[in-house]
Amino acid sequence: VATPELVVDGPALDANIAAMQVLADDAGVTLRPHAKGHRSAWVARRQLDAGATGVAVATVREAATLLEGGITDLLLTSVVAPGRAEELAGLAAAGAALGFVAHTPAVVAALDEAATARGVRLRVLVDLDVGQRRGGVGTPRAAVAVARAVADAGALDLDGVQAYEGHLQGLEDAAERAAGHAAAMARLDAALAALREAGLPAATVTTAGTATAPLAAAHPGVTELQPGSYALMDATYAGLPGVAYAQAAFVLTTVTAVLGLGEVLVDAGTRAVGTDLGPAVVHDLDAVWLPAGDEHGRLRGAVGGLRPGDVVRLVPSHTDTTVVLHPPLAAP
Ligand SMILES: Cc1ncc(COP(=O)(O)O)c(C=O)c1O
Repeated sequence: VATPELVVDGPALDANIAAMQVLADDAGVTLRPHAKGHRSAWVARRQLDAGATGVAVATVREAATLLEGGITDLLLTSVVAPGRAEELAGLAAAGAALGFVAHTPAVVAALDEAATARGVRLRVLVDLDVGQRRGGVGTPRAAVAVARAVADAGALDLDGVQAYEGHLQGLEDAAERAAGHAAAMARLDAALAALREAGLPAATVTTAGTATAPLAAAHPGVTELQPGSYALMDATYAGLPGVAYAQAAFVLTTVTAVLGLGEVLVDAGTRAVGTDLGPAVVHDLDAVWLPAGDEHGRLRGAVGGLRPGDVVRLVPSHTDTTVVLHPPLAAP
């Protein structure tokens, strides 16, 4: 094996995809998996084949990559930076059924201008801040102002709202997560009521990550879930209560030297394993991987049985920041 290499356990991936689809189907909501973690048309196709209505992306580049891979129903969940409206409209002209989120009338105007120039239509959701403080409108009144700007725009279709509650995903205490979620949904409900009163009701209400999907699915008014990490999973999510998906993404690495009792050197460093959420863990061994440079890592713990040449599987602490270090995931 040419290590370090990112590999996917196909049956685990498919089991995760099926489990989230069942959660959405049972609740009567649609599933739009977030593709920012896997960035792969191959994975997205499996999600669509299992019943997802489309996928979500975080960047214009991800949208372009997935479109190239034949995935056309895309929602860009981050507000597009000023100056990139033309690029987005270009993706729609290239065949994407593209949605985006907006948080100011100025963003709406820029996208309307670009869409008009290209002769395309874009679907728009008002981005609500329900507690994450990462953009999004903060008041029901501001939500109505953005929605009205969309409704008045010539080339845009008002679709609804996005109420992503990302600040709750990493909470380790289930009760704290539930309380935080109730507060986030109260903010969503206030915005939805204001939109209804203004004659601009939201058809689509999209929200949720892997940890909050069951809570969001049970909230009246939510129509779509957009979780992402459940597909490939990582060690951080595996440690959270109520998140019971299988690990599907691994970094294969080869032992290159025995450094001492309980410590070996491997050929995966920070250019193969994301470190922003802490050390990776070694699959099936009571050991952790620690960075020892760009191309080197150390396994510490119960590694006494490992010898140079042995290949082990690392479970990243954060799969999103690991996937980007490797070539795109594709069919085996
Ligand atoms: C807007 C948005 N929606 C959904 C997700 C998916 O969340 P998770 O990976 O926690 O399932 C993310 C992840 O960062 C996100 O930024």
